[in-house]
Amino acid sequence: MAGVTEFQEIGREWLVGDGDGDGDGGAARPPADLRPEIPHPARMYDYYIGGKDNFPADREAAEKVLAISPMVRISALANRAFLGRAVRHLAAGGIRRFVDIGTGIPSAGNTHEIAQQVRPDARVVYLDNDPIVLVHGRALLSGTTPESTAVVQADLRDPAGILAAPEVRQALDSGEPVGLLLVAVLHFIDEQDDPYAIVRTLVDALPSGSRLVLSHGTLDFTPTADAARGPAVYRNASAQLTMRSRDQVLRFFDGLKLTDPGLVTAPLWRPDTPAEPTDSQVGIWSGVAEKP
Ligand SMILES: C[S@@+](CC[C@H](N)C(=O)[O-])C[C@H]1O[C@@H](n2cnc3c(N)ncnc32)[C@H](O)[C@@H]1O
Repeated sequence: MAGVTEFQEIGREWLVGDGDGDGDGGAARPPADLRPEIPHPARMYDYYIGGKDNFPADREAAEKVLAISPMVRISALANRAFLGRAVRHLAAGGIRRFVDIGTGIPSAGNTHEIAQQVRPDARVVYLDNDPIVLVHGRALLSGTTPESTAVVQADLRDPAGILAAPEVRQALDSGEPVGLLLVAVLHFIDEQDDPYAIVRTLVDALPSGSRLVLSHGTLDFTPTADAARGPAVYRNASAQLTMRSRDQVLRFFDGLKLTDPGLVTAPLWRPDTPAEPTDSQVGIWSGVAEKP
């Protein structure tokens, strides 16, 4: 388990020091404040899926959530597996440009690894608003070429800013269909920030034939008595949770053509192995759709 000091060292090296491959000599960026004492959703997710990049405060909060709902870990793992299958599906269908917003801390089966297994020429732009994700993303990608992968700090609540990022512009200006990934990130956007308008702005900018890959946490299968308790733990974290029903998640796909089997729980989206009886109760709605 990495300690605080170790993380801060990595942070210094990758966010302000030399060697991040961006050619700025390490001069321009402010130091990352990893705020290890505040539970962080990306690190809590990392803990759920068995990663090592989390602090005691993250693990404590994650354990509180798991005590209320042990299904959260199953959902997180199912979500990650969905991401892998969806990216493979897109790459096999000819998509070689990917924009992955809400990347998460690199873990097993990152988007570029999966896409490049199918299409070695696949290019992925990773965007996240979290300094620790960027620290790890840049470390992971230090061996890749800038043409094939990029890591950008950006906030999903600022879609215009995302579309203006040169790395994203490059993907969109190619005119090729793009795989836009919004996987397990929209539940961090509350109604006040109008998540539907955000998705619409991003989708409108995509070339025809592009795909939206989207998953979203739900309480549709959570007993009413427990429904408020999991999100309540996140109230002390650095981002809040807004879970949505199937109908609410379906709205994100307005104007798009859902790929078979439509919007289903994560394990039921084109599974590699036969479905288990409990798969239909996993609290992540998942779907892929094509822009006409
Ligand atoms: C649960 S993780 C999902 C990681 C990955 N997409 C996956 O499904 O395995 C959510 C990620 O969304 C990021 N995130 C949350 N709010 C965000 C925002 N407003 N803008 C950009 N990223 C955000 C978090 O930092 C975290 O890395």
